[in-house]
Amino acid sequence: MMTSSSTARPRFAFLRDPLAALASAAATGDAPRLWLGPARVRLLVHPEAVRDVLVTRQRDFRGLAFEAARRIAGDGVLQAQGEAHRRQRRVLQPAFHRERFGTHGAVMSTHAARWAAARHDGETLPLRNAMVALTLGIVGESLFGDADAAAVDDVRDYLDAALSLYGPLVVPVARWIERVPLPSVRRVRTRRARLDTRIAAIVAARTEAARVGAPCRDDLLTMLLSARDAELAAERAVDAESPRNVAHGGANGARRPLDDRWVRDEIMTLVLAGHETTASALTWAWRLVAEHPDVEARLHAEVDALDRDIPTLDDVPRLPYVRAIFDETLRLHPTVPFIFRRAMAAVPLGDGAPGVVLRPGEVVVLSPWVTQRDARWWDAPDTFRPERWLDDADRAARPRFAWFPFGGGARVCIGEHFATSEAVLILAAVARRWRLRIAPDHPGRERTRLDPLAPTRPPSTWRMRVETR
Ligand code: HEM
Repeated sequence: MMTSSSTARPRFAFLRDPLAALASAAATGDAPRLWLGPARVRLLVHPEAVRDVLVTRQRDFRGLAFEAARRIAGDGVLQAQGEAHRRQRRVLQPAFHRERFGTHGAVMSTHAARWAAARHDGETLPLRNAMVALTLGIVGESLFGDADAAAVDDVRDYLDAALSLYGPLVVPVARWIERVPLPSVRRVRTRRARLDTRIAAIVAARTEAARVGAPCRDDLLTMLLSARDAELAAERAVDAESPRNVAHGGANGARRPLDDRWVRDEIMTLVLAGHETTASALTWAWRLVAEHPDVEARLHAEVDALDRDIPTLDDVPRLPYVRAIFDETLRLHPTVPFIFRRAMAAVPLGDGAPGVVLRPGEVVVLSPWVTQRDARWWDAPDTFRPERWLDDADRAARPRFAWFPFGGGARVCIGEHFATSEAVLILAAVARRWRLRIAPDHPGRERTRLDPLAPTRPPSTWRMRVETR
């Protein structure tokens, strides 16, 4: 029988080492329950249960936003629920359509080539910071265009201040902290105000340019603003026909005004969600490539076969092995290692957890990190083997949700294609000229902060040495 101290210990196992806690829970079955601090949650391991939550029964679940995340990024699409989420997603989606990718692709390719050209033989780099700066530059120029690209620095300055204030707070303390007259609170307020002013000025300039018929800039912000205007016009037309629709909603499904604050919140959400995730994945990819000479040789052979020095979006289909390296990296090190949902009704799970019925209010955790290392779906699950992605029969035999680093269903990552194209172009542009080696003075793991992305975030202490090929 367990003693009271041995029952108390598992409550904090997740907070101490989330991945080890998930792995040991998963070893006991497909729907184990585990303590997440004071709360009991259910881990769903089987791909069919993942499909139930993300796709088949998605309307019975709510995303679970930490209070801290909402304080940091406001009410962007990441935080929205129900009807409000569908509407915000509808407005954002056109900016990420494949046909818009020409512009994003050119930004990615130029930044990747510029980064590769700025390196020199023997240089050592703090790799994650370098990848963060590169992906931040790409998301900044994709959002604001080259003329206003520096606005992304205001976003990042604000996010840095807000993350260090709220980052460790996963409880409602975040709501109260702003009332305390600390210098860090003042810093967040000042930077948020500066960001608001900057975004309001950019939006006003774009609106005026559109009014006088100046040529439209081809960036995410322009697309966001025009999709917003189309949505508002469509809503006005519907509201004029049946005015009672105007006040629909409820706490979580209510319409919010698509005003400057909304624009700011969506921009912060895109910057927050859209650069560190990709930068971390790239950092892992470089390290894995450096540790696997056979993979590195095949990578070099593929990029050398390209007929131009600066790979472009058109080259991405010609780089299946580079893509396989990225997919395999995200399998072993998914940079969003878990996804939380709360059941809003009683939900019987199907083949993935037969006999399990989730209670209304029950919190479930899906973990790409666990499911993507499950030996039922993956041969040698802990081995880095990009080749597995090139075998069509192998891929077809695997359940769809054995791999879900970008989630799935209505809340699937809006930036999945953006991130994948960006990563392939960066890996290819750099690998054409350089090999990256783990520097001998690399000081190992650092302590990670308690936040949802921390468990699979590579340490910022890793240094890589750049060598001419
Ligand atoms: C390797 C890079 C990336 C990974 C691993 C990743 C992963 C994810 C995952 C797992 C979700 C779903 C979360 C959930 O279901 O609760 C998500 C959502 C989201 N991602 Fe990404 N992401 C990446 C890159 C990006 C990029 C480049 C952007 C934008 C430029 C982006 C923007 C978003 C947004 C806005 C959402 C919220 C979607 C919604 O709730 O409807 N992500 N991402």
